[in-house]
Amino acid sequence: MPSAATPAPCYFLQFSFYSSPLGLPFFFTATTIATSGRGGLVAAFTGRWELLDASCIARNCGRAVSSPPSLLPFVSAPRALHASTDTTIMRFLFNIRNLHSPTAQCTSKCEEDEKKRFCWLRFDKRFFGSAAAVIERNASFSTLNSDDVSYFKDLLGEKSVVEDEDVLLTANTDWMRKYKGSSKLLLQPKSTHEVSQILKYCNSRCLPVVPQGGNTGLVGGSVPVFDEVIINIGSMNNIISLDKVSGILVCEAGCILENLISFLDNHGFVMPLDLGAKGSCQIGGNVSTNAGGLRLVRYGSLHGSVLGLEAVLANGDVLDMLGTLRKDNTGYDLKQLFIGSEGSLGIVTKVSILTPPKLSSVNLAFLACKDYFSCQKLLVEAKRRLGDILSAFEFLDNQSMDLVLNHLEGVRNPLPSSMHNFYVLIETTGSDESYDKEKLEAFLLRAMEGGLISDGVLSQDINQASSFWRIREGLPEALMKAGPVYKYDLSIPVEKMYDLVEEMRIRLGQTAKVVAYGHLGDSNLHLNISAPQYDDKILAQIEPYVYEWTSKHRGSISAEHGLGLMKANHISYSKSPETVRLMGSIKKLLDPNGILNPYKVLPQSLKSCH
Ligand code: FAD
Ligand code: MLT
Ligand code: ZN
Repeated sequence: MPSAATPAPCYFLQFSFYSSPLGLPFFFTATTIATSGRGGLVAAFTGRWELLDASCIARNCGRAVSSPPSLLPFVSAPRALHASTDTTIMRFLFNIRNLHSPTAQCTSKCEEDEKKRFCWLRFDKRFFGSAAAVIERNASFSTLNSDDVSYFKDLLGEKSVVEDEDVLLTANTDWMRKYKGSSKLLLQPKSTHEVSQILKYCNSRCLPVVPQGGNTGLVGGSVPVFDEVIINIGSMNNIISLDKVSGILVCEAGCILENLISFLDNHGFVMPLDLGAKGSCQIGGNVSTNAGGLRLVRYGSLHGSVLGLEAVLANGDVLDMLGTLRKDNTGYDLKQLFIGSEGSLGIVTKVSILTPPKLSSVNLAFLACKDYFSCQKLLVEAKRRLGDILSAFEFLDNQSMDLVLNHLEGVRNPLPSSMHNFYVLIETTGSDESYDKEKLEAFLLRAMEGGLISDGVLSQDINQASSFWRIREGLPEALMKAGPVYKYDLSIPVEKMYDLVEEMRIRLGQTAKVVAYGHLGDSNLHLNISAPQYDDKILAQIEPYVYEWTSKHRGSISAEHGLGLMKANHISYSKSPETVRLMGSIKKLLDPNGILNPYKVLPQSLKSCH
């Protein structure tokens, strides 16, 4: 899985100004902006030109700067640039359109000399992979200062308060390297008490925070948008108990999913959740995103498997909802609010989860279908004929296969004789080896005779099964390697699902590749548009079309990844105004200052901290 992050392009403006004798604010007009031959930027304000040198910009920014070919077409000028004489952080209004980087953001720094003050201004707005999605930092949030850092060091110890630039760069950057924040602080609490104290303090100071797990989220929810303090509970990774009669596992929320899978395997149980990011994602992150994954068709969603939670609210209150009962009808089931709330209502610190027993017989078939209709019919048949041994039903199209073959090392097509249009993975899990295998083989024979399958292979051992899964699970990585990608995670009725893919191919023509795969057994399409570059013209072809199409078919614009930053403003495509308003009220009740994962999940209009 890629981990090292490259810095986002960062664009700077510099201007100088003199103190106003009357103490009135100064107004500057940005008339034009262009790149200089040396890679710096030239900015003109009120007719004065300043030439900025790229290395000088880099020094002040503290990270590398790459210049766009030209900013000219991207800046609508003139715009008022408003600076007040007594503040170093100037408010300024810029309307920058079509800026290539979805994450443009800079820092500010001021230097004094005898006559004038030079300021490096930051673009205090963020751009992200969504049309018209430009947001501003909530000005009522405080900015981190040295007293805050000292407080955290006293509370957590020096080692758990991270200011190291390299570590921060990674923590500020999401898995896709599409979203980048500029947090100056990463906190690594070791106990619920520490999480509680951190939040209590941040709430009293109005300091915004981002809860972060394994940082494998795909909607920009796990990284700061601006300077939010990052709280990662990866150090809270103890397994607390496993009840070997009921299969109920209780653990801290920082446990890595794969470690839980191995632990349970050793004790004869399985995690009811499995996904491609298992090596990095944390159970707290899984619960907070209500992750779906590869086995939801068998074990259902985390809303069913999670029996209890411990969560810390913004004000530091610890909610002990860590039940281990399958049945408990005493009032509102509040833990459900935290499952899928993406860190916007509290920090999950402990989880209790029901884990099914490990069964001895697992079979995996890798199949080819000539068209989407056959995949769909195959699913109906699989549900009917395999019944309770069916444990996964995944699909990918030939563009997906092409992509993994081209971008992942050591991957080969198990059905190489010709390129098929669609591929399906069917997994069964049961307790009787010969019966299960016979059942699957009979099903496959029937499907082959009925023309639903054009070719197929049954895995002979665990290594072959892993190589089949690698094709499906490696898709997000292959897409990343292929370059910029617009990702959509949609719930759409199975029979309509692939119509959208075909329509997108027609809409986009040769400009981008449309790659489709997903959890067909759960009606969950992963629509990926792999483009040569992030480009607003391409984006305009995709959004809002994809959302409108999904909404028209009564689908969901987030099946399993969440809304994060990417879709916070688009929630209304899947939820009614009344529902969104109620969500806003719940947010306000649990986090009145709005410090928990601001700008995410809910529309920007619902921000707070007054
Ligand atoms: P992060 O990415 O760190 O955070 C995700 C969100 O949860 C953020 O909003 C964050 O603020 C919040 N959060 C994290 N920890 C906590 C906590 N303890 N308390 C409160 N809030 C918290 N997702 C699926 O659903 N199904 C898949 O099949 C799937 N496959 C994937 C495959 C790959 C290769 C990758 C890279 C991602 C995949 N994902 C999938 C997306 C992602 O892995 C999941 O959303 C996962 O659950 C995120 O867990 P995390 O620990 O990495 O959380
Ligand atoms: C998957 O199913 O592979 C994940 O949800 C990730 C993705 O959508 O790319
Ligand atoms: Zn998925």
